[in-house]
Amino acid sequence: YEKLDVRPLRQRLLVVANRLPVSAVRRGEDSWSLEISAGGLVTALLGVKEFEAKWIGWAGVNVPDEAGQKALTEALAEKRCIPVFLDEEIVHQYYNGYCNNILWPLFHYLGLPQEDRLATTRSFQSQFAAYKKANQMFADVVNQHYEEGDVVWCHDYHLMYLPKCLKEYNNNMKVGWFLHTPFPSSEIHRTLPSRSDLLRSVLAADLVGFHTYDYARHFVSACTRILGLEGTPEGVEDQGRLTRVAAFPIGIDSDRFISALELPKVQEHIKELKERFAGRKVMLGVDRLDMIKGIPQKILAFEKFLEENPVWRDKVVLLQIAVPTRTDVPEYQKLTSQVHEIVGRINGRFGTLTAVPIHHLDRSLDFPALCALYAVTDVALVTSLRDGMNLVSYEFVACQDSKKGVLILSEFAGAAQSLGAGAILVNPWNITEVADSIRQALTMSPEEREKRHRHNFVHVTTHTAQEWAETFVSELDDTVIEAQLRTKQ
Ligand code: ADP
Ligand code: G6P
Repeated sequence: YEKLDVRPLRQRLLVVANRLPVSAVRRGEDSWSLEISAGGLVTALLGVKEFEAKWIGWAGVNVPDEAGQKALTEALAEKRCIPVFLDEEIVHQYYNGYCNNILWPLFHYLGLPQEDRLATTRSFQSQFAAYKKANQMFADVVNQHYEEGDVVWCHDYHLMYLPKCLKEYNNNMKVGWFLHTPFPSSEIHRTLPSRSDLLRSVLAADLVGFHTYDYARHFVSACTRILGLEGTPEGVEDQGRLTRVAAFPIGIDSDRFISALELPKVQEHIKELKERFAGRKVMLGVDRLDMIKGIPQKILAFEKFLEENPVWRDKVVLLQIAVPTRTDVPEYQKLTSQVHEIVGRINGRFGTLTAVPIHHLDRSLDFPALCALYAVTDVALVTSLRDGMNLVSYEFVACQDSKKGVLILSEFAGAAQSLGAGAILVNPWNITEVADSIRQALTMSPEEREKRHRHNFVHVTTHTAQEWAETFVSELDDTVIEAQLRTKQ
């Protein structure tokens, strides 16, 4: 057995995710520019270095013409990326519809948008058909690029149907699937009309991974309760075939953030920010503008804090940086207007001629600006209503080794399990509790801050993205070897 366990040093990895790490913007008929995509999946996977990886996914753009597709394929090849071309109708039904209007809210316990409920129920079948079709398109591209011995690592809720499609092509493919969101309680999952199809196709993978033990447990319960299969300590068994199910908490490339703080560009930003906000404590929120992030709840809690603590009104500022996301989905459009409305009202109420309490930006920041902001922050506010992990909290901690700021963290983020001992944990639905925690954070003694920060910093710098990927891939190898040994016996 020992002898079998010999792996190439740099294993070939095919990473398959709906979103490529770069999104394409068309500049001319056959000229493209590529921008880094936002989101935790991309951040974590970009931190994985020690594999010979190729990334297969959608470049976030519709390219109907062959010449455009050829030019984009060439531009992406330089980044070791392989595009899957999805037309507008598929994007509408699969990405905006099934993925982001059905699975995403359901997996985050938000249910379906109320007024959309009936319409969504009616369009469910066609959206699920588009979902399966899109997953098959991803499988076709994987199959074209697959070489024997490759590890195929599928990611996230967009691609739950992919493991099944891949195994239909080649049952010997090593297939892993990892979910970057929570997996909800089986009572939630069972409301999904396609509940069994999705579970069965995920189970076609050799190894299924989640951020936390709870999500893995929910998945196993869904398989036992909905499919009537057997759950074991290793995973789920179906007629003698085992699918391994386990927790693999993700991390970040902490060195990238820590070393960036020394860069002249970052130092310049730090200096500017310190001058700009001299005499005020800086509170920070960095999120995709998504309803799971609890942005309105965070801002209302800040309002409550200002209301109850008048002495702080001209001594603190909240910087909320919210990058727009999934802007074709109506629910996201509504959220943008709602956030603007609340921010405007609070700034009108507590602002002066020279200062406002909330600076809200609807955009992405580049890496040096983001690192500088993390570094000058006194209190970071992560108030997700649910969140698979939340890497923003990890990035903040990585950039705080000199300042030792405080992290206020939702107990419903996966990160609460790893950073809970160092952060102040809150229920984001309880704005009074969050307002109190803001006061506690702003008045915390330096010794207490140091102690809490140290706990989190050690975690963030030792549980990295690289370690996460190595553990997952090595577990996948072991799982496949064990399965081969079992069938030989
Ligand atoms: P999610 O995966 O739901 O987007 P995470 O917190 O895990 O949440 O990851 C978000 C990633 O996107 C982080 O790496 C963060 O730095 C990046 N990000 C989010 N908002 C912004 C923004 N406004 N500007 C720049 N980067 C952002
Ligand atoms: C979350 C999801 C990712 C997704 C990211 C950005 O992190 O888990 O799969 O890529 O959000 O969302 P988007 O829809 O823009 O890809």
